[in-house]
Amino acid sequence: MVKVSPSVLSADFANLGRDVRGLSAAGADYVHIDVMDGMFVPNLSLGFPVISAIRRDTELPLDVHLMIERPIRYVERFCEAGADILTIHVEADTPENTMQALEKIRACGVRPAICVKPRTPAEAVLPYLPLCSLILVMTVEPGFGGQKFMADMMPKVQEIRRYIDAMNPGCELEVDGGVDPSTCKICVASGANVLVAGSAVYKAADIPARIRELRG
Ligand code: DX5
Ligand code: ZN
Repeated sequence: MVKVSPSVLSADFANLGRDVRGLSAAGADYVHIDVMDGMFVPNLSLGFPVISAIRRDTELPLDVHLMIERPIRYVERFCEAGADILTIHVEADTPENTMQALEKIRACGVRPAICVKPRTPAEAVLPYLPLCSLILVMTVEPGFGGQKFMADMMPKVQEIRRYIDAMNPGCELEVDGGVDPSTCKICVASGANVLVAGSAVYKAADIPARIRELRG
């Protein structure tokens, strides 16, 4: 079944508790939390205390997407803060450190995941795929919500779906950026089973209906 992971980046931060608590009853599967350091991406978002607060406010698994340089420095702290899935970018450090960071995440009992930016080819995930519980394909340049979906990422989603089926069939395949009720279909048809959606969820008048629509 297709899962929906609403991105709280598009929530009302002055009412974050309310906007997080509503997600479970609205039918969300995960809560997507975007962490930005102003270096890996040209934006800053939130960090440990906010994740810990969200952790106290929902039973849903926290799907934490780190857009930070050298995430190995902080992965244990994100696990302690309450991440259930912890995603690091393949572009954010050396291959050795990326591998070690994924191993650290797994040693914390958290699901390790790797993410690729639009210009990074599908093959970049291959060394890490056996260790990963989820692969995230960006369908916008990371850094901001509300951008236009890049349909030209679909061949990459299809290719990574083939790798997953061959090498690690339990691994999930997630897409992030510009996913809405029209673009979700091609993502699922290309092999994604987890859809991140920020503006499409939080700008909807009826959030439960929107989540059903995204799931298809
Ligand atoms: C962008 C973030 C996304 C963002 C998606 O860097 O990784 O998770 O919140 O927002 P929408 O769904 O509005 O494109
Ligand atoms: Zn994200």
